[in-house]
Amino acid sequence: MRKTIFAILLGFSGAGFAGGGMLQNECSTCHNITGPAAQTLKEAFEKKGPDLFYAGNKYRQEWLVSWLQKPQRIRPAGMYYGNHIKAGAKGDEVDVSTLNEHVALSKADATSVAAELMRLKPHDDLTAKEKIGAGAISKQMGEMAFNKFLGCMACHLIEPEYGGLSGPEVYTAAKRLQPEYMASYIRSPQAWDPKSWMPNKHLSDINIQKMVNYLKVLSEETENAK
Ligand code: HEC
Ligand code: HEC
Repeated sequence: MRKTIFAILLGFSGAGFAGGGMLQNECSTCHNITGPAAQTLKEAFEKKGPDLFYAGNKYRQEWLVSWLQKPQRIRPAGMYYGNHIKAGAKGDEVDVSTLNEHVALSKADATSVAAELMRLKPHDDLTAKEKIGAGAISKQMGEMAFNKFLGCMACHLIEPEYGGLSGPEVYTAAKRLQPEYMASYIRSPQAWDPKSWMPNKHLSDINIQKMVNYLKVLSEETENAK
């Protein structure tokens, strides 16, 4: 009897009772959860979702828990430059009709999968190198650097409809990502993903700090606007 109840309580969500089982069974078809990163362009083009094998070095756990219950698009053009861009009146537009909804999890499943993901930390070596200071930057100065001096806006949205479409939106980045990850990825995208489309712009430590602080300001503003 006890065994039956146990099975009913936990069994309903399929493999969901164990975050690891669920990751393996329901997520690994689209996400790389074991590494290594794609080593060839062919592999990179075949990716169906972002790599999750270093999730514990990258994401903020509370964000994972909430996003997995209510996933919202992060990359406006979908993964990864597939056939989601169409010619529009004002230039290229994203053809949203071809993008699919992400699977949404129950609170319990989201919590256990997020905990499982946070254990995947093969890149402590990279994040340990980043020291995040408490520096502040005004939104205007940050935007000037992001857009004009460092050329980041060609690929990233800094507001829902403002900026480039080929990278992930960055106005939510600080809500989603650990600051050390942002710093490290900006320092060298290829250290995380040899085939990343983001160029290494060889930013100085000061500019890396500026960008991380700017992304923090942007996310706080997005939060307040809600
Ligand atoms: C059909 C393919 C598919 C399956 C199955 C799938 N995902 Fe995803 N996932 C994606 C795509 C595509 C994105 C990128 C969405 C975007 O950028 O808007 C994504 C994004 C994510 C993100 C955000 C990561 C980031 O950096 O943007 C997380 C976390 C995630 N998925 C976890 C999971 C988990 C956990 C499962 C299993 C329960 C799962 N996914 C199953 C395709 C999939
Ligand atoms: C040529 C396009 C391009 C340019 C220019 C570019 N990026 Fe990126 N960026 C990307 C892509 C593509 C990704 C990540 C791929 C993925 O996870 O889907 C990325 C990822 C990031 C991330 C991690 C975001 C996340 O959600 O995982 C940050 C932070 C970031 N870029 C900041 C910057 C900054 C700062 C600059 C300017 C110095 C910059 N980028 C310039 C394309 C670009």
